[in-house]
Amino acid sequence: MTRARAAVFASGTGSNFEAIMNAGELNCDITLLVCDKPGATVIKKAEAFHVSTFVFDAKTYESKAVYEQEIVEKLQAENIEWVFLAGYMRIVGPTFLNAYEGRIINIHPSLLPDFPGKDAIGDAFRAGVKETGVTIHYVDEGIDTGPIIAQEKVLVKEDDTLDTLKNRIHQVEHQLYPRVIRQLTTK
Ligand code: GAR
Repeated sequence: MTRARAAVFASGTGSNFEAIMNAGELNCDITLLVCDKPGATVIKKAEAFHVSTFVFDAKTYESKAVYEQEIVEKLQAENIEWVFLAGYMRIVGPTFLNAYEGRIINIHPSLLPDFPGKDAIGDAFRAGVKETGVTIHYVDEGIDTGPIIAQEKVLVKEDDTLDTLKNRIHQVEHQLYPRVIRQLTTK
């Protein structure tokens, strides 16, 4: 039986991309990295894993619909079945959503619906919550909304700094995302 092909979308460092690639035993092959930030560290990581890359700069397109159409064509040409957003800092629009409905998954560093947005760990830390965590969910048209697949709590310690909390959340992400991908792609 042929394994499903999947793409990871990322905008920055790519520690989740790396964790997914190193996890082994996924029931899919990650064959493409899509990145919206030319020069982002994750691109070098993909090259090191011999994963092909599609890098674009949204500013050079007329609209979101135009660049998303190009992405969809690329994904379809490469027979991509699943899309895993891992630090992809853009809102997904209808062009992409309609083409990949129910097949776009996101990881977010908070216990959604609390602290959506770009700085979830900082927002939770500054709010002084006792616990936060990680959410993996299906993507819909909202910002960090969509049906939740998995959540894991991370306790905030008395002596936590923003950095120590970030590190613990990332460690949880790096375990949880590969596990969920494995489950989702098991037919
Ligand atoms: C991760 O913590 C991910 O959950 C978060 O960006 C980080 C990317 O780190 N995503 C969001 O905040 C989405 N709203 P990485 O590039 O090292 O994987």
